Amino acid sequence: MTLDVASAILKRRATKQFDARHPMSAQDLETILGLARRMPTAFNIQNWRFVAVTDPDLRREIRKVAWDQPQVTDASVLLILCADIKAWEKSPERYWANAAPATRDIMVGAIDQYYRGREQVQRDEGMRSCGMAAGAIMLLAESMGYGTCPMDGFDFDAVGKLIRLPEDHEIVMFVAIGKPAEAPYPTGGILPSSEIIVTDRFGE
Ligand SMILES: Cc1cc2nc3c(=O)[nH]c(=O)nc-3n(C[C@H](O)[C@H](O)[C@H](O)COP(=O)(O)O)c2cc1C
Repeated sequence: MTLDVASAILKRRATKQFDARHPMSAQDLETILGLARRMPTAFNIQNWRFVAVTDPDLRREIRKVAWDQPQVTDASVLLILCADIKAWEKSPERYWANAAPATRDIMVGAIDQYYRGREQVQRDEGMRSCGMAAGAIMLLAESMGYGTCPMDGFDFDAVGKLIRLPEDHEIVMFVAIGKPAEAPYPTGGILPSSEIIVTDRFGE
């Protein structure tokens, strides 16, 4: 099954209960992650790292530090979206491997100038990249007949220890993917567009 983008957006809801017996094929996961990686990152630094947690024991350990939320163990796949905060300085010429040498040199210089010494910007960039990846992952999964749950209800430090998160990485969020076991609750409510969409400037 595939859905067009608008249908996938409208159909997606946060799945609270997954069918714990439903496996996801390695190929489906590869499709989702392969396509999500085509989302943009600033300067093409591809600073996202996707941890697919498959070990049931590890899932149980993570659930203990995630408010005992059942999605952690019952989803077919638990993805932990992480950001490599220092990706910008790790052989940045790799991010422009296909560019002409002169262009590559310009981009490598620009990357250094943009991120060096700007710790907050480095971290924020990881949040932006993983946020975009998370959106793509959820819509792709939806279009393939899965449900998803974006999650940040967990102890970030404890999960970091469990997955041996490197010092210069940050966990951004989880996306649990699987087969929904029940219909979603009614949607919480959508704010009026007048509150969300601003033309030109915010009011005084
Ligand atoms: C960053 C983020 C973190 C979230 N964390 C959790 C979570 O830990 N547990 C949970 O059940 N839902 C979580 N949600 C789901 C939201 O509550 C849900 O997306 C929101 O209420 C809108 O409902 P809908 O996704 O069904 O449209 C999270 C959503 C986002 C975007």
